[in-house]
Amino acid sequence: MGIQYDSATGTFHLRARSSSYIIQLVKGQYAAHVHWGRQVRGTNPGGLLAIRRRCSFSPSTDPDDLTLSLDTLPQELPSYGSSDYRVPAFQVQLENGTTVSEPTYVSHRIYAGKPALEGLPATYVEQAEEAETLELVLSDALIGLKVVLTYTVFRDFDAVARSVRYVNESGRSIRLLRALSFGLDFDRADFEAVHLSGTWARERHIERRPLTTGGSVIESRRGASSHSLNPFLALVSPDCDEDRGEAYGFSLVYSGSFLAQAEVDPYGTTRVVMGINPFDFSWLLEPDESFQSPEALLVYSSEGLGGMSRTYHRLYRTRLCRGEYRDRPRPILVNNWEATYFQFTADKIEDIARAGQELGLELFVLDDGWFGKRDNDRSSLGDWFVDREKLPLGLPDLAERVQRLGLQFGLWFEPEMVSPDSELYRTHPDWCLHVPDRRRTTARHQLILDYSRADVREYIVHVLTDVLSSCPISYVKWDMNRNMTEIGSELLPPERQRETAHRYMLGLYEVMERLTSAFPSVLFESCSGGGGRFDPGMLYYMPQTWTSDNTDAVERLKIQYGTSLVYPISSMGAHVSAVPNHQVHRTTPLELRGHVAMSGNFGYELDLTKFTEQESELVKRQVALYKELRGLVQFGQYYRLRSPFEGNDTAWMFVSEDGKEAMVLYVQVLSEPNAPLRKLRLKGLQADADYRVWDADLPEESEDRFGGDELMHVGLNLPVWKGDFRSRLYRLKTI
Ligand code: DGJ
Repeated sequence: MGIQYDSATGTFHLRARSSSYIIQLVKGQYAAHVHWGRQVRGTNPGGLLAIRRRCSFSPSTDPDDLTLSLDTLPQELPSYGSSDYRVPAFQVQLENGTTVSEPTYVSHRIYAGKPALEGLPATYVEQAEEAETLELVLSDALIGLKVVLTYTVFRDFDAVARSVRYVNESGRSIRLLRALSFGLDFDRADFEAVHLSGTWARERHIERRPLTTGGSVIESRRGASSHSLNPFLALVSPDCDEDRGEAYGFSLVYSGSFLAQAEVDPYGTTRVVMGINPFDFSWLLEPDESFQSPEALLVYSSEGLGGMSRTYHRLYRTRLCRGEYRDRPRPILVNNWEATYFQFTADKIEDIARAGQELGLELFVLDDGWFGKRDNDRSSLGDWFVDREKLPLGLPDLAERVQRLGLQFGLWFEPEMVSPDSELYRTHPDWCLHVPDRRRTTARHQLILDYSRADVREYIVHVLTDVLSSCPISYVKWDMNRNMTEIGSELLPPERQRETAHRYMLGLYEVMERLTSAFPSVLFESCSGGGGRFDPGMLYYMPQTWTSDNTDAVERLKIQYGTSLVYPISSMGAHVSAVPNHQVHRTTPLELRGHVAMSGNFGYELDLTKFTEQESELVKRQVALYKELRGLVQFGQYYRLRSPFEGNDTAWMFVSEDGKEAMVLYVQVLSEPNAPLRKLRLKGLQADADYRVWDADLPEESEDRFGGDELMHVGLNLPVWKGDFRSRLYRLKTI
């Protein structure tokens, strides 16, 4: 790992764990992209860039050198207006209304460690020697715009963290119309784009398609990273699969509207840009003010998508997530939402918690409905005062009753929202996002609090602090159940209205920072109607996310498999729920529901008091088994073996860091008549070690023994089943 600058050729060679990223200053001015991929020694990095004369329609910045055109030069941060027609990474507007800029190289700085980004979530290092950082300073002296490009390479990861700071040094105001986090030009276009798409209850399904001229746009305009498209894009070589081929991942540490774009030009090059969505965005920079873009994590893998995912998992789990729970096993919980919805009493909650205690569960979570007059979703958001009709003795009494049973107590909030039917809204009707004289469009009967306002933020921090200090609360579920409309803020002047959505995000991050640091022992889980804000920005504050409101085990195969492309398993909430399933009305066996939920942060979300004796026995075994396996699941290496998007069966596995222990899940969704005999090749084991292999639901003595090489290169013989929705968990341990 390290960054070298060769002044003779103007090249910067950034070396991450086993990859190289090379930048060259062309004519000492333009930061050109040379290479990102496998590590090279650096024999002649200055001789790698191909610059050729294009046709006369490509304007040249130097009439005496027709080889130099910004329209064809591979660049690190393309600007707009002075000859590059491809998609720009940023665009400014001056007081005179013009929008042209062309910053060129001024200076650079290389140093150990990684800087924090003020007010924004970002990856971090614990020791300076874990990373090295390059700051490349460009400037357009004519208009007084300075642009600072930051690159961090990590010793332990094939990742480059990129972000940009836009600084106004002009003495006049400059408006940013677009201020993305990076640009990168590949000198090839033989890529396929992989991204995650979906909607509520169907989040993060994997899509893959070849890039063609013109390219691909992945974006959210919803004011949240969203259920629809995730702030993630990968470009992969056509031969790339789980284990082979090249994968270039781009993941944005941001929770609001974003843009990721891959544009292929007629010369077969590909430009990738990513950052805050410029749609309905602008930012006024007064003299000496600066704007910090969110961070993007660029991950390179020469070991296919599997290698890329494992880098993201470890990077995000250990150097993005923070707090006491980062490295701690997560408790097995029971949540009352699908058990009672809004209708519960303190006694009913205690009954569920008691049943949980008998089954070995560790945390009870009281979901929506405990405050104001919240008997349905039409009222009370914002009134974070206990509903004495449901809980006459208040939260301290309930928390104590739950704790007496030996379970921790957790609580649901939706702190960014206000119901029009609430005391808060009646007192402060101007505290929500809105546009004067326009309808305030509701979704789920609620409006969004204007977190760009300091008074709103103070109020929320204050009321949540009160509740969280009022009794022993060990866990908070932070929900958010709608996207933005009428994006405007009462306190911002007209020329700053288009800043509202990003100011909201900055305000939200500030509130989350304050609350999570004030309550460091509380485990925070983010949620947005399930996985509507499953993004790296949230993981910085809250190390886990409720993956989806869809708890059906079959649907979860796709949702959890897709989510694993980027996000660590320790970040995925996964619960066993009742059948017929509330979202899709499918009836699946308790065994399958348990197996799929055990592949994440395990819990139950149903009325535990309704189990038959036989079911209770099975659940007790599931809970005991997960206690043995959770270290492996939450902190092991994850391998995808069979895709639910490609067939009737799904398989994935977890391997401990030392390769001595593993767990494999195999699921067959529908029964097949007279099916062929099948084998499942495992991954990540030690080829020269021997393993005991047994069905996790049977006693250990039922074991078989195989070499790691046999399991990986020949494969496990899979069972032949009759009946739908069958699954098996295998455990492996070295002998
Ligand atoms: C949406 C969440 O995803 C659910 O788990 C639940 O908390 C409801 N909101 C409560 O309103």
